[in-house]
Amino acid sequence: MKLWGGRFEKATNGLVDDFHSSIRFDQRLAHQDITGSIAHATMLGEQGIIPKADADAIVEGLKSILADVEAGKVEFELDAEDIHMNVEKLLTERIGEAGKRLHTGRSRNDQVALDCRMYVKESAKEAVSYQRELCETLLSIAKQHAESIMPGYTHMQRAQPVTLGHHMMAYFQMFSRDMQRMKEVYQHADVCPLGCGALAGTTYPLNRARTAELLGFSSVALNSLDGVSDRDFVCDYLYAASVCMMHLSRFCEELILWNSHEFKFVEMDDGFATGSSIMPQKKNPDVAELIRGKTGRVYGDLMGLLTTLKGLPLTYNKDMQEDKEGLFDARDTLIKSLMVFNAMLSTCTFRTENMSRSAEGGFTNATDAADYLVKKGMAFRDAHAVIGHLVLHCVKENKAILDLSLAELKTFSELFEEDVYEACSMRACVTLRDVTGGPAPGRVQETIAAGERFLAEFTV
Ligand code: ARG
Repeated sequence: MKLWGGRFEKATNGLVDDFHSSIRFDQRLAHQDITGSIAHATMLGEQGIIPKADADAIVEGLKSILADVEAGKVEFELDAEDIHMNVEKLLTERIGEAGKRLHTGRSRNDQVALDCRMYVKESAKEAVSYQRELCETLLSIAKQHAESIMPGYTHMQRAQPVTLGHHMMAYFQMFSRDMQRMKEVYQHADVCPLGCGALAGTTYPLNRARTAELLGFSSVALNSLDGVSDRDFVCDYLYAASVCMMHLSRFCEELILWNSHEFKFVEMDDGFATGSSIMPQKKNPDVAELIRGKTGRVYGDLMGLLTTLKGLPLTYNKDMQEDKEGLFDARDTLIKSLMVFNAMLSTCTFRTENMSRSAEGGFTNATDAADYLVKKGMAFRDAHAVIGHLVLHCVKENKAILDLSLAELKTFSELFEEDVYEACSMRACVTLRDVTGGPAPGRVQETIAAGERFLAEFTV
């Protein structure tokens, strides 16, 4: 008979058993569920709501179940529906009558909310630790390449020169924001719902603060209806995971381009590329493509849950059981993507000579040439037009601006002098962008130092 079978005259249809049972996936919450139950039983005993001896027996029983689950010795039953009832059933089988007192003053509704909150808290911390490793890799590449010139792009057209270090530090900003976002996810999840009961609290004199304290929560849910129906914190995790995947995906897109024969900015390590079954010459950036592709499924997990929740009346509805698979999938995808991406990035070889050659060939110093004329007294709008004509000429002649002789340059403006060659060199273009947040090597070093401080001080 089902744990809730008292009111029923017929057994559940076999199709339904299979359809609504969640043990297949929520067994992943065994650790959280059992830990939560240990705290609940401890509090029940302390409050005298159940006999102390029963509370002790329950705690011992739960510990032995946890040990067996972790050793892979427990077979869960489809028939017992979900992790909560599987654990309770096992407990009563092991310790007898006392086991039946565990669920006093509790519902699966506050229980599952608790398990999910514990899972999200752990997963947010875990994500931060992998994001931190990636940020460290970025800092080390940036340090090495604060002076390595590369073209910066807008519209996928070469725009102005930057450095590889500056480019890496852009991603550092993105992933350090991801760390902060995950910290906020942790804080939103850090509210204990136990005591909300099925929806309307409980008549037993629970000590909610004590259970929260035993489980390391910093506060308790302040409305029982919200406490059992709130899944915002799962959405928060899925959103933070989606944004982080989006950042990884943009980075992958760049590495795929840079690794192409057309760019040749980067050489991926053999260990992170794959070959073709037919074309012998191929070395494909599959890993980066796969991360880019997996971003879609994490967005799907977010959209799926938002859609599941949008029409739900308060409070708990079984629809909410659909929160878990997406959450688990997003967590697995995010963590694996961060791991493999970090390993791939740290083994990439950057072909800095090709990068700087590309910067030189792409008129990336055209803005600087205009600025040069401005510094000699011309109005910017006029200088823009002069350099525009100059570039058009160079395009036709297949030359870079500084390939022209001073005499040729002077046919576009009398203001050009010998010093233009130095003023518009790639090195000067980068060094002169000496503004907070700019690519001048000294500024990049400042950002790197700020990044190091951020990582050293950041805790969840
Ligand atoms: N397996 C359920 C879930 O994941 C647990 C809560 C069930 N509560 C209920 N009243 N049926 O949401």
